Amino acid sequence: MTKNSTDQQTQAAQQLFSLLKKSVRTLNPYHVEPAMPRIKLDANENNWLAGRFQPILQERLESLPIHQYPDSDCLALREKLAALHGVDREQVITGVGSDQIISWVIQAFVEAGDQVLVMDPTFSMYEIDTLMAGGEPVRVPLGEGFVFQPEPFLEKARETMPKVVFLTNPNNPTGGVIAPEVLRPLLASLAQLRCVIAIDEAYYEFYGETVADLIDTYPQLIILRTLSKAYGLAGVRAGYALASEAMMDALGRVKPPYHMSGLDQLAALICLEHADALQPVLQKVIGWRETMEKEMKALALQEGEDRLRVFPSRANFLLIRTPLAAKLDQRLRESGIMVRGYGESGALANCLRITVGTETENKELLAVLQEVFQPPAGRSTEKPAEKEGKG
Ligand SMILES: Cc1ncc(COP(=O)(O)O)c(C=O)c1O
Repeated sequence: MTKNSTDQQTQAAQQLFSLLKKSVRTLNPYHVEPAMPRIKLDANENNWLAGRFQPILQERLESLPIHQYPDSDCLALREKLAALHGVDREQVITGVGSDQIISWVIQAFVEAGDQVLVMDPTFSMYEIDTLMAGGEPVRVPLGEGFVFQPEPFLEKARETMPKVVFLTNPNNPTGGVIAPEVLRPLLASLAQLRCVIAIDEAYYEFYGETVADLIDTYPQLIILRTLSKAYGLAGVRAGYALASEAMMDALGRVKPPYHMSGLDQLAALICLEHADALQPVLQKVIGWRETMEKEMKALALQEGEDRLRVFPSRANFLLIRTPLAAKLDQRLRESGIMVRGYGESGALANCLRITVGTETENKELLAVLQEVFQPPAGRSTEKPAEKEGKG
């Protein structure tokens, strides 16, 4: 390639960038680690269910008519979900992950300049979708220990009159919850305002509390769920939502045809047909979350909360904060274990989010944690910078 043509290409690429919508040009895109680690504890998947549905899927694939477009209405899947939740089929919508349904909520309701209220920190896609639509995310910080504060949230809602409110329960990445006695009155107050209320219950199965029963009371309420977490189907991309028929009519206006492939629908259906396999696995995950939390808290007790803090979680992951976060992350990577880190600044500075894995995976993780905080005799672990100074 000549220098001239390279220059022309660079110029054309710059021009292309300048053609981007301003809201997209300035966007910080969602980052996914490309590596496939030996032990993957960075995305809140359910490793206990690895390989569980493949044999059945393989058998049923034989009769899947892949030369035809899939069912655009996902009827069989929606009927299965409706039966599972005791609601009408018309009150269920499915998506390519709940991610897609989040984007439909924004596409359907948020115009340039509209406000969208979110907790801070929380799942970043609400903000990314809002910015893409030209809307303005309004973050309401969680309180000390990432505990949700209903009063400031409601106050901010009254002040900004958002088009959409997202509440994540349990929250990602903190694992904290909004108890029903707090959430239900808050919903009643929010329902007085003119806004859509999206309750993201992606981790519901690990928590057990829901407000899905309120979809008949509040037409503006939508409950987001996913098969990616407890159901062990993150690779399939299957999410769903429960809401009023009025809400479904709104989302139906932006939903593309044939959004879920026949493969997605079949795998999701098989997974739900074998949902009885789920309960014992959920108990294992919850049991291990409690064990890991206890072990980490015992370590924190010895080390001091400024060296290791474990935030209470009702999901399938634990958020910890430690000045040794970067070192711990590095040691985990060296051991082939990937967790989610959040860098050194912002509300999640020095935090790591650790998915609860299988027994072997959890034990390996805990061993690295022990080693970093309590190195075996003869091997030293760096002290955090601020402690070193105090000598
Ligand atoms: C709170 C929350 N909502 C939604 C999602 C998206 O899930 P999916 O698109 O896999 O259904 C996630 C994924 O991490 C999440 O943590």
